[in-house]
Amino acid sequence: MKQLLFTALVIFSITAASFTIRFYTDEAEVAYPEGYRMWTHVKTGMAGPATPDFQNSGGYHHIYANEAAMKGYSTGHFPKGSVIVFDLIEAKEKNGYFPEGKRRRIDVMVKDSTLYPNTGGWGYEEFNADSKTERLMTTTLRETCLGCHSKQPDHVFSKFRN
Ligand code: HEC
Repeated sequence: MKQLLFTALVIFSITAASFTIRFYTDEAEVAYPEGYRMWTHVKTGMAGPATPDFQNSGGYHHIYANEAAMKGYSTGHFPKGSVIVFDLIEAKEKNGYFPEGKRRRIDVMVKDSTLYPNTGGWGYEEFNADSKTERLMTTTLRETCLGCHSKQPDHVFSKFRN
């Protein structure tokens, strides 16, 4: 009986420890940014066929920010709870007009310095097309994101356009 209790305690401790570790590393899951299309539109860029990464990133680059992130755009310091979404939409061409096509993916950045201490306080995620559950982020891909973003003040490139 004692042996059994001991085993149970060991299993419990290991489980608790791994939860803690998972919770406090940059692996903590970034939530799908529900309702972001109703947030503030920060700006739009357009990647045409001449851009080097056109295959992967061609199309409209719309950026949206929640209320907390909007404070960051004006102060330069993004508070906890800031969420920024990079919405990548195909650009089509019809008689010189460029309508939006399908959504290719969204990139998400969430500020929480407790959850993401190793990646500048930001959690990085990517969701495929219109999916709210199909996550594309990998450890390697995150390194790629950081390769560019960590060189920016508070990891953010864009400036708010009036
Ligand atoms: C080659 C450099 C580069 C890489 C790699 C990169 N980004 Fe970006 N990202 C940018 C630039 C430049 C902008 C701003 C675009 C603009 O202002 O129109 C941006 C904008 C963003 C934004 C809007 C907030 C901001 O910083 O302006 C998010 C969110 C974002 N990227 C997420 C990601 C994620 C997630 C990854 C990895 C999957 C990633 N990025 C990889 C260069 C990069």
